[in-house]
Amino acid sequence: MDDLAALKTKYEAEIAAATDEAALEAVRVAALGKKGEVSLMMRGLGAMSPEERQLAGPALNALKASLSDAIAVRRSALADAALEARLAEETVDVTLPPRPARTGTIHPITQVTEEVIAILADLGFGVAEGPQVETDWYNFDALNIPADHPSRTEMDTFYMHRDPADPRPPHVLRTHTSPVQIRYMEAHGAPCRIIAPGRVYRADYDQTHTPMFHQVEGLAIDRDISMANLKWTLEEFCRAFFEVETIELRFRASHFPFTEPSAEVDIRCSWTDGQLRIGEGDDWMEILGSGMVHPKVLRAAGVDPDEWQGFAFGIGIDRLAMLKYGMPDLRAFFDSDLRWLQHYGFRPGDVPRTFA
Ligand code: PHE
Repeated sequence: MDDLAALKTKYEAEIAAATDEAALEAVRVAALGKKGEVSLMMRGLGAMSPEERQLAGPALNALKASLSDAIAVRRSALADAALEARLAEETVDVTLPPRPARTGTIHPITQVTEEVIAILADLGFGVAEGPQVETDWYNFDALNIPADHPSRTEMDTFYMHRDPADPRPPHVLRTHTSPVQIRYMEAHGAPCRIIAPGRVYRADYDQTHTPMFHQVEGLAIDRDISMANLKWTLEEFCRAFFEVETIELRFRASHFPFTEPSAEVDIRCSWTDGQLRIGEGDDWMEILGSGMVHPKVLRAAGVDPDEWQGFAFGIGIDRLAMLKYGMPDLRAFFDSDLRWLQHYGFRPGDVPRTFA
């Protein structure tokens, strides 16, 4: 009996001393496991005389029950302590400052491109694309730009580096989106009605020119498309884009090798106190180049000019963005200055407005 009391004291002390689940389990195995001390003693009961057994049996059972209880109590205490510790560690400090506000914005070029696409898609134009590195055939020859045209000189055009001994014609960074006209007609023939927004490159740098900028090309080819269709399309576009009811366009006779006749288009506007107003006033702002696609261009793209005709236009997207959102210096568009982007950028999800 004294043995059992000593055993009880010993295991109770070990249970109390167990500081985690694993240590407690080790104590349980040592006492109550299959080969545990208490279990072995219980197995010894069989060899006892009935009288001895009558005394020892209940005492051993009581010891076993008492140790089991003590282990269970300790186990739940350890679990509580572990939970407490985790809760203490994972507290949220509500006095911390909030996360900094979202800093990214939609670049005005992206916004305006989306607006232009939305408006012209409403008018039935699909979106086409072409490569930014072009052969000089697509960028110049197919567009009826003669070999000695000034725009071909290194002054304006970025030529890709090539071994001078290489007999293949040179590649250029496309200087306008017009080569997409050729590529599209070559692939799909006539009739067609597409726009091609994208990056273009020219060696130029001042307040209103950057070496990389953006254009959107328009092309509509069918059997009887005329300048009247071009005028209506551009007027509808400007009304929707600038969100003013009355706009006035001026078609100025001009020259592009790939259109005949050609027209540069100005929009009526006013500058007062540095504020630009579209649709009123006595000033004119040039916004695009356009014309009826030259028969040679149609032919170069595999379209029969005796059967098909149509118009093309090329608008500077950067110019549109400057006009609509009042940004005076084009160079800032590409400086990646976070303050500028915060100020002029758009919130993601701002839906382009397509009508006044
Ligand atoms: N490609 C011309 C330019 O970059 C614009 C243009 C396009 C003019 C289509 C007429 C027709 O200046």
